[in-house]
Amino acid sequence: MKAYLVTGGAGFIGSNFVLRERKREKARIVNLDLLTYAGNVNNLNSLRGDRNHIFVKGDIADRELLRELLAQYQPAAVIHFAAESHVDRSIDGPADFIRTNVVGTFHLLEEARRYWDSLSAEEKKAFRFVHISTDEVYGSLGPNDPPFREDTPYAPNSPYSASKAASDHLVRAYFHTYGFPTVTTNCSNNYGPMQFPEKLIPLVILNALEGKSLPIYGDGLNIRDWLYVEDHCEAIGEVLDKGRVGETYNIGGHCEKSNLEMVKTICAILDELCPESPYAPHDSLITFVKDRPGHDRRYAIDSSRIGQELGWTPKESLETGLRKTIEWYLSHKEWVKDVKTGAYQDWLAKQYG
Ligand code: NAD
Ligand code: DAU
Repeated sequence: MKAYLVTGGAGFIGSNFVLRERKREKARIVNLDLLTYAGNVNNLNSLRGDRNHIFVKGDIADRELLRELLAQYQPAAVIHFAAESHVDRSIDGPADFIRTNVVGTFHLLEEARRYWDSLSAEEKKAFRFVHISTDEVYGSLGPNDPPFREDTPYAPNSPYSASKAASDHLVRAYFHTYGFPTVTTNCSNNYGPMQFPEKLIPLVILNALEGKSLPIYGDGLNIRDWLYVEDHCEAIGEVLDKGRVGETYNIGGHCEKSNLEMVKTICAILDELCPESPYAPHDSLITFVKDRPGHDRRYAIDSSRIGQELGWTPKESLETGLRKTIEWYLSHKEWVKDVKTGAYQDWLAKQYG
């Protein structure tokens, strides 16, 4: 069985991807994750005893460790999820974002290229480095602008998106300079099971269940293009198997919603699923709070390239995806209890006062 080196496979999207790949049983997964506050081994509980999932706690910037793992497991691909991923934290303290997203990606590229150089001509041709990036690198859209395309100029506005843009440029340069077989994906906002509750959707679900206020930045009319995480993982699988080397692929949900609409929809589903809740109607908990500095107004993705070339389209509708997500949080009380540590409470206190 071939092997894949997955970085950040204990985080939200990475763990969903690893679970999906192990279900397909097409590859052994070597899962390298530093287990920062956002990494959670509980996401991988169902893989306990699976000999084809090898979890390694470590840093993508640790060159020696990377060299050892690549030599030992001889992966046919690297799928690079590991990153600092929360915009508000990047505003609060950008250093970790530069360290992991820029410098870490550089070290990973260097070691992966070195390993790739040592492969046979046939293995070299088949090898892929799939870099998972974001639509935020394109900046912010006006209300009537067309959605982001792969040729939209980069215009990142937060330290997070700037660090991701820098990593995208490095990946691009490794293809153009060294012929290193990279493919980059730029995806819109994901939601689904196992997302750390610093992000809007899980934060709102968990706060609502506890009768806490639901903080909406600014006027709540910022728009995001929402995609269910399993659809994103499927798209990454298609790009890995069939994507053109040196290309970038935009991935989106064709699902533009304002934050206020999203939060109201979550509240309505909670009202229905938890009719006994003392906090219903949950939308009475909505509170408008100070806006995020530099808050991008609108994101929207034109995903026609991946649709036309690879035949991918999202399967989940917002209604079914959100319902599944809320049901997942309602039925995973232990997971929720474990992530609400002191460090999480400290973040809430710092961010929301
Ligand atoms: P996440 O924050 O949930 O997970 C990140 C994971 O990376 C964690 O498990 C963490 O422990 C690990 N990590 C951090 N620094 C590391 C390091 N130096 N070495 C090894 N591991 C490290 O993030 P996510 O939401 O799952 O996002 C995954 C990737 O997808 C990121 O690259 C992000 O930019 C991109 N992305 C996310 C979204 C989204 O909506 N969440 C959308 C588009 C793209
Ligand atoms: O677009 C893809 C990006 O989506 C990914 O690259 C990022 O890793 C991911 O975190 C996400 O970024 P956003 O900043 O869009 O996601 P977040 O969940 O933090 O916020 C979604 C929207 O909700 C955004 O407009 C800010 C707003 N928001 C967020 C929080 C946490 C609120 O109004 N209140 C909040 O408390």
